[in-house]
Amino acid sequence: MHKSVLLDECLEYLNLHDNSIVVDCTLGYGGHSSEILKRIKKGKLFAFDQDTNAIKYSNEKLSKIGNNFEIINSNFVNIKEEIEKRNVKVDGVLYDLGVSSPQLDIDTRGFSFHADAKLDMRMNQNQDLSAYEVVNSYTEEDLTDILFKYGEEKYAKSIAKEIVNNRPINTTLELVEVIKNAVPEKYKRDKHPARKTFQAIRIEVNDELNVFKKSLKDALELLNINGRICVITFHSLEDKICKEIFKKVSDLPNELKNLPVVPEEYQPKYKVIKTIKPTKDEINSNNRARSAKLRVIERIR
Ligand SMILES: C[S@@+](CC[C@H](N)C(=O)[O-])C[C@H]1O[C@@H](n2cnc3c(N)ncnc32)[C@H](O)[C@@H]1O
Repeated sequence: MHKSVLLDECLEYLNLHDNSIVVDCTLGYGGHSSEILKRIKKGKLFAFDQDTNAIKYSNEKLSKIGNNFEIINSNFVNIKEEIEKRNVKVDGVLYDLGVSSPQLDIDTRGFSFHADAKLDMRMNQNQDLSAYEVVNSYTEEDLTDILFKYGEEKYAKSIAKEIVNNRPINTTLELVEVIKNAVPEKYKRDKHPARKTFQAIRIEVNDELNVFKKSLKDALELLNINGRICVITFHSLEDKICKEIFKKVSDLPNELKNLPVVPEEYQPKYKVIKTIKPTKDEINSNNRARSAKLRVIERIR
């Protein structure tokens, strides 16, 4: 399995110490979590995932390192309730967004446009809404909207029309064929023509952007002073949300910007620490790192 994306940088910028309380919002196959656990011998790791395969695998992996961890089988949108219930404040929070390599590689999950599978794309296998319903029951207008908004797909309109005209569409490769028929030849040369449509449907199925926005705002409130949040994003829509939230909480409100002295109680509680991109070497050894970006923020008061 690949080394986790931006692993060394996350470990450095999370500022871990022996007693740190850390939340890994995206446990996956435990790449980040296991390295975090090794560094917090007297602390505690809480790790969220909603994928039962990932949880089972990582539970075994982490158990070999220590027992000071708890896996929370839940969507990270519930971070506030779940962490408050445990009566802790946290020193570090990590988001490594998106799907894991195994989710992409296991053909039956339906995330990949390279392998044939039932249209699914649910990260949480117990959820009702799947890619099948989105593709086969949404109106043409709603589909167009989703492809524009979540895929930034310039051929959204013609792809949505072709989808509606070819229903029912049962599998990933059937959908790929429909998409190919809806776009001009030149669009198929550079990158895979289904890439943006698949991203858009996946975001819709898992409500990824709304969930991330709510969770990140809540996570900021759970931080101890000097606590940090590291967010790894993989596309511009996620990154934009992160950038805007970080800017808002670390900036003075406009009406205070011209004051010669800003009273202590109006000073921002957070400071943006850094934005980091993977090195060329990392991109060469792990294709998933290509579009990754890490943003770090700290609670300062
Ligand atoms: C990119 S992978 C994480 C990989 C992990 N950092 C590692 O090193 O192995 C993302 C994981 O987060 C999970 N995930 C994504 N969105 C989630 C959400 N809203 N709630 C809980 N888990 C989520 C996915 O199921 C997936 O297992």
